[in-house]
Amino acid sequence: MTDPEKHPATLAAQALGHIDAATGALIPPLHTATTYQRDPDNQYRRGRSYGRADNPTVDHAQALLNALDGGQRCLLFASGMAAATTVFQALAPGDHVVAPQVMYWGLRHWLLSFARPWGLEVELVDATDLAALSAAIRPGRTKLVWIETPANPTWGITDVAAAARLAHEAGARLAVDGTAATPVLTRPLALGADLVMHSATKYLNGHGDVVAGALVTARADDLWARITALRHDAGAILGPFEAWLLLRGLRTLYLRVERASTSARFIAEHLQGHPQVAHVLYPGLPDHPGHAIAARQMQGGFGGMLSIRVKGGEAAAIATAAHVKIWQRATSLGGVESLIEHRASIEGPDTPVPADLLRLSVGIEHAEDLLADLTRALDRSG
Ligand SMILES: Cc1ncc(COP(=O)(O)O)c(C=O)c1O
Repeated sequence: MTDPEKHPATLAAQALGHIDAATGALIPPLHTATTYQRDPDNQYRRGRSYGRADNPTVDHAQALLNALDGGQRCLLFASGMAAATTVFQALAPGDHVVAPQVMYWGLRHWLLSFARPWGLEVELVDATDLAALSAAIRPGRTKLVWIETPANPTWGITDVAAAARLAHEAGARLAVDGTAATPVLTRPLALGADLVMHSATKYLNGHGDVVAGALVTARADDLWARITALRHDAGAILGPFEAWLLLRGLRTLYLRVERASTSARFIAEHLQGHPQVAHVLYPGLPDHPGHAIAARQMQGGFGGMLSIRVKGGEAAAIATAAHVKIWQRATSLGGVESLIEHRASIEGPDTPVPADLLRLSVGIEHAEDLLADLTRALDRSG
């Protein structure tokens, strides 16, 4: 279904240009069937038997995401967490894995509270520091290096190509959580990564009405076979309606990410001068420690996510979030509506996130409205 001649933005806008063969409809039908007819001689020649194995609507969304990330295969899951945890569960007890100290907290929590007791040897490291990453990887022992770039919620940057080299030299695979960057801004497989994971709940769907996850692989190898079997056997599949909504959301992915990136940069630049702001964390700012790498590996922008550290500590940060009128106080990210969140409150006492940090997910509203609203709230919290 993929046409290498077309820009991914064109593939996304047209959902791969699919026209329904039966009706000529431009919008793909929603296939809800859980079971399929057998041939009289007991075969399944039409290729489908049961909804936990596959579904035409899910296949369509997978084919599109696979094309956007330049992969060999894509699988959709019931959530980003289902996608991520399936990768780790496809390893074997006793395997050594390296993951970032600062990453999506839910996955870090799962690694420490479930994967470790299950038998994975989980080592957390500052993945923005290649020397530290290299020191943590054990040649012949490490099976997987997991990175997230930009990393939630401080937006540290890891050099994907360098991390892939380090992992491969040691006989390990590199998996990248590309949720914040999306395939619009970074295509980790082209930089040498073996797997990309997305919480499709965020930018890919983009409208705050679907929970979904995706894995895209560079190769249909033995690990991918285990991941595919695990999704089928354990049943962490995406429902067809969610896949259909995701296909619709993906049509505007490029527009939304471009708009969010432009607005986030505008807001980051302006907040730098605000007297109540101690620090703006955004990879698009030249003083961000990962800026040079981000400028190299992110194309067309630095993303719609930034964080600010508010002078006056936790109380001032929470007061700022209380005073906004346009931003919504809510968790999650990557939707059309801008969201503001005090991350330390949600992550709990073990969080490495500073107590004065507010995470901002920039949506598609007018950037000047967003900046004015935040500036007013910051003024009032001082
Ligand atoms: C970077 C990142 N990865 C993974 C996840 C998990 O995704 P989901 O909530 O779809 O399970 C999230 C959710 O916030 C996230 O922000």
